[in-house]
Amino acid sequence: MQIRHSGEGRNPENSTNWTPAFAGVTNSSASTSLDSGLRRDDDHQISHFRSFARGRYALCAAYELAGLRSGTTLLAPSYHCLTMLDPAIHLGADVQLYPLNPDLSPDFEQLDTLFTKCTSPVKALVATHFFGIRQDFTRLQRWCQQRGIVLVEDCSHTLFTEDCQAAGVGVFGSLVTASPYKFFPCEDGGLLQVSDPSGSSTTKETLEHPSPRRRPGSSSLNYLDSGLRRNDDFSMDQHFPETVAPSLSEELRVIKRTLEHHAAALTDAPDDLDHQLSALLQTPNTPAATTRHEYKEPSASFSPNLIYRSASRVSRWLVRRTSPESIAEKRRENFSRWLDTSRDIPNCRPLYSHLPDDCVPYMFPLYIDHPEPHFDLLKRLGFPVWRWDKMAASDCSVATDYRSHLLHLPCHQSLTGARMDWLMAVIRKVLPLQMAEDSSTTYSPETE
Ligand SMILES: Cc1ncc(COP(=O)(O)O)c(C=O)c1O
Repeated sequence: MQIRHSGEGRNPENSTNWTPAFAGVTNSSASTSLDSGLRRDDDHQISHFRSFARGRYALCAAYELAGLRSGTTLLAPSYHCLTMLDPAIHLGADVQLYPLNPDLSPDFEQLDTLFTKCTSPVKALVATHFFGIRQDFTRLQRWCQQRGIVLVEDCSHTLFTEDCQAAGVGVFGSLVTASPYKFFPCEDGGLLQVSDPSGSSTTKETLEHPSPRRRPGSSSLNYLDSGLRRNDDFSMDQHFPETVAPSLSEELRVIKRTLEHHAAALTDAPDDLDHQLSALLQTPNTPAATTRHEYKEPSASFSPNLIYRSASRVSRWLVRRTSPESIAEKRRENFSRWLDTSRDIPNCRPLYSHLPDDCVPYMFPLYIDHPEPHFDLLKRLGFPVWRWDKMAASDCSVATDYRSHLLHLPCHQSLTGARMDWLMAVIRKVLPLQMAEDSSTTYSPETE
């Protein structure tokens, strides 16, 4: 296996937050292991990284660097969480959603059509390796270069830190963002990396048009005067916005939350599943209603006052002290268990039929045929399941379908064998249930 040696998704309601725990935290710095496939970055002589409180703020910096502002456009995948779009909305840019194929790769034919219809200059395109399953963005990189668009590679779903990166990710974008707290046992942390593998002039061009937004009293955005240069002569310190560490009291709050999550992850799984389920089956099911909202302001998940905040010191310390190899191994093991189990369960199918070598999965994507009773039941059982049902509307049939049908199941390294057993048991019991023909409120076991 290869790893390079560098919420929202978490729907809070109902689900038990089992994920953050100190699995893999070591007494010494993580050691280099080429066998694991992780890539260790020993060669970033000058820092090309900037720490942020979360991936969304790293995206905000990336979009701003790419030249996004009012009167310009971001191209973003139709299937997304709002935190990928919020920063562009914050910058006043227009967002156009490009359609995707069922495997979540870009649909190039429709991307071309969308591009020709854009009424304001397209400055950036954001692409993501959904669920940690790496995508080959070579063609997308070329497509962007040919049109003078900055490719922002969102590695939020991949294992990606300053020191260690999963294989094959973070190598396509001129700007790369990540969200280490999704993989490491910590509460916050986003990352921006500058990389300009092609040395293309497109990035430079977009940076020559200054954005009006500035942090008051800061000269940190003076990159706008000089443009982005190649990696070898680019100084992040000069050209990227500074981010500041949280205050001591905030830092203490982060430590408290980290410990609380760790404790929650150690509690036992409920053992009265049959009882809970039969009680739930007696209660009416309230079908989810879809409502439309104007999306002119960033969602509540985006706090402008955190834009220039770095990750907390404790989170950065935890990232450095946790073995990425053990994270990778455990997550792959849990993902593989899901793959094996879901193959035998009716009314669902895994989005990806196998786990490619060297991928470190973020979540296990499971397509379910009957979201209406099943998602609700899973949530009410306290099953830690997520889906992106809050999404900007688009014509993409895949995104529209996945919005309700695609579940994100946990494969976090801190899930113990007993927890995984419970999760499997719940899925095995719930997904075969089907709605009774004559009632919208009761369920019956599925018959073959
Ligand atoms: C694909 C993707 N990109 C970016 C983000 C933003 O990451 P963060 O939660 O670190 O802000 C998320 C959040 O879940 C995400 O799912």
